[in-house]
Amino acid sequence: MRSHLGIMKTRHLKRRGCFLLKLLCLLVLALIFCEFVVYYVVIFQCRWPDVKIEAHRSSKQSSVSVVKAMFLADTHLLGEIKGHWLDKLRREWQMERAFQTALSLLQPDIVFILGDVFDEGKWSSSQAWADDVRRFQKMFWHPVQTELMVVVGNHDIGFHYEMNTYKLKRFAKVFNFTAGKLVSRKGVNFVLVNSVALEGDGCTICSIAEAKLTKLSQQLNCSQEEQNHSKKRCSDMTQLPASEPILLQHYPLYRRSDAECTGEDSALPEEKNIPFKEKYDVLSKEASQKLLWWFHPRLILSAHTHSACEVLHDGKIPEISVPSFSWRNRNNPSFIMGSITSSDFSLSKCFLPLESSIVAMYCTAGALLVVL
Ligand SMILES: *[C@@H]1O[C@H](CO)[C@@H](O)[C@H](O)[C@H]1NC(C)=O
Ligand SMILES: *[C@@H]1O[C@H](CO)[C@@H](O)[C@H](O)[C@H]1NC(C)=O
Ligand SMILES: *[C@@H]1O[C@H](CO)[C@@H](O)[C@H](O)[C@H]1NC(C)=O
Ligand SMILES: [Zn+2]
Repeated sequence: MRSHLGIMKTRHLKRRGCFLLKLLCLLVLALIFCEFVVYYVVIFQCRWPDVKIEAHRSSKQSSVSVVKAMFLADTHLLGEIKGHWLDKLRREWQMERAFQTALSLLQPDIVFILGDVFDEGKWSSSQAWADDVRRFQKMFWHPVQTELMVVVGNHDIGFHYEMNTYKLKRFAKVFNFTAGKLVSRKGVNFVLVNSVALEGDGCTICSIAEAKLTKLSQQLNCSQEEQNHSKKRCSDMTQLPASEPILLQHYPLYRRSDAECTGEDSALPEEKNIPFKEKYDVLSKEASQKLLWWFHPRLILSAHTHSACEVLHDGKIPEISVPSFSWRNRNNPSFIMGSITSSDFSLSKCFLPLESSIVAMYCTAGALLVVL
């Protein structure tokens, strides 16, 4: 009798243990899916857009001459002052998984981050800065065959009035970027601009930046003129591919507001009609005009607004606002994928998993647990 009861008891315990084990499994599965697998499932659906390839080239050559570029923006890695540790941990894990998954599935040639990499670069102590940089390098680790280039944003070095040489120098030390830079890959010219320094008030950093950009403009002009070496101005320039550049910067060129922007990830309806402040939300009219005159870009990519937009300048030059890459700033972060040749380009957008659907999945798993 006694032993019989004992057996019943162990059976009951076993069944209970088994049940608990199953629940634990469910929990672990939900965790693995929501924190790891979901990035593969979602980003796997993104494809590099097709781009027209000039007919006279052989197919082998043409496959080589397409630059696969990825553009993302406003990662805002939280700092020690305003960032809560849990918020930090969560956002950085999400961005790290999204970026690493995108790298392994899409294998871009080059990745551009269009500024505001850090949230508190504008005021962080040197120790906090070093910690932020270390975390950035871990999150955005990339193999040597993928290049990563970063453009400076106002949160990295401060708005114009808080920007100084010390902050710009420490940024330059990590990212090799100060005033502007010309990057030429496979016949495609990218011009990276320090748009925070385009205040036009003649501050030291501003004049250095303008001088640098004028020089780059000259260099590009030389490449587009007939190769006429009697032109002395061009003789000491390194030869660049003769292709109109693509402009990359943090601030958008001047526009009145986001009212014309469309798409599911454009600004919220109640925010769209708020007029933009020059030199704060967007570049000043003068600085925008200068950039267009200097570079005659065929495409402009900018950031800073955290929402998507597409505008045409002078009726022909498209500008794309790249939305924020962080779930802290929006429910549906994304990045832009571009297939670019020296004469043509084609862009598409790759959305990351929705924060709301991850939360919904966790809630479902939680509800299931409670019910069981
Ligand atoms: C930094 O950028 C310049 C171009 O502006 C380039 O010539 C130089 O090699 C880069 N330095 C490093 C260490 O990448
Ligand atoms: C380059 O050429 C464009 C168009 O002709 C011109 O507007 C610009 O001023 C030139 N850049 C320089 C530095 O002269
Ligand atoms: C080269 O420049 C010189 C002087 O500016 C001009 O006389 C000549 O016609 C140019 N040649 C070509 C091929 O453009
Ligand atoms: Zn910004």
